[in-house]
Amino acid sequence: MAAPNQGLFITFEGSEGTGKTTQIQQLAAKFESLGRQVIVSREPGGTALGEDIRHLLKHADSGKNMVPRAELLLFAASRAQHVDELILPSLKKGNIVICDRFLDSTTVYQGVARAINARDVDEINKVAIASTLPDLTILIDLDPEEGFQRIQSRNTEPPDRMEQEHMDFYRAVRNGYLKLAADNQDRFLVVDGHQSIEAVETAIWDGIKDRII
Ligand code: TMP
Repeated sequence: MAAPNQGLFITFEGSEGTGKTTQIQQLAAKFESLGRQVIVSREPGGTALGEDIRHLLKHADSGKNMVPRAELLLFAASRAQHVDELILPSLKKGNIVICDRFLDSTTVYQGVARAINARDVDEINKVAIASTLPDLTILIDLDPEEGFQRIQSRNTEPPDRMEQEHMDFYRAVRNGYLKLAADNQDRFLVVDGHQSIEAVETAIWDGIKDRII
């Protein structure tokens, strides 16, 4: 494994209902069992400010008529705070940071699915991350229809603002991710999310061993 005093930044990406949360918990437990300090976080969110922004983006009445540029900037604001307040300090301490979504969500959701100019999105991402790129990004690929079936079978709450788009939006998200991963193969590990939870977990760990450990 990477030297114990060396930080490691791993992000998870994918459309809705791909099982990222479960896999993040399993991966964190695995690293902890090997004696590593792990920080698990998410975007939008991860800091007090970021969690307030998350509420605006997903649940607040004031967000109902949010225009795509405002959405882009709110995700970026959450990320900038997250990088400076939590991610960078944790990496500097030599911890492993595992984050549920990061800049690639913006590239794909705002840049591809919302069709905001890709160069503008890249510029905003650059400001937000301040050169902090993940060492590894795990994309769990899943047919969005299956993802939503999974969400509906476990959720009692009504869908939030980001879960109310047409299926075409989530198909664009899925295709956007696959293209981004193909263009950045050195950073991305793509795992087939149609498999069982255990098979996905194994594929992730094997990929990490191949690339990092
Ligand atoms: P989640 O935490 O339940 O995945 O919800 C976050 C939602 O926000 C999800 O629909 C993906 C979306 N999102 C973006 O559109 N852009 C971003 O930069 C991030 C981090 C998330």
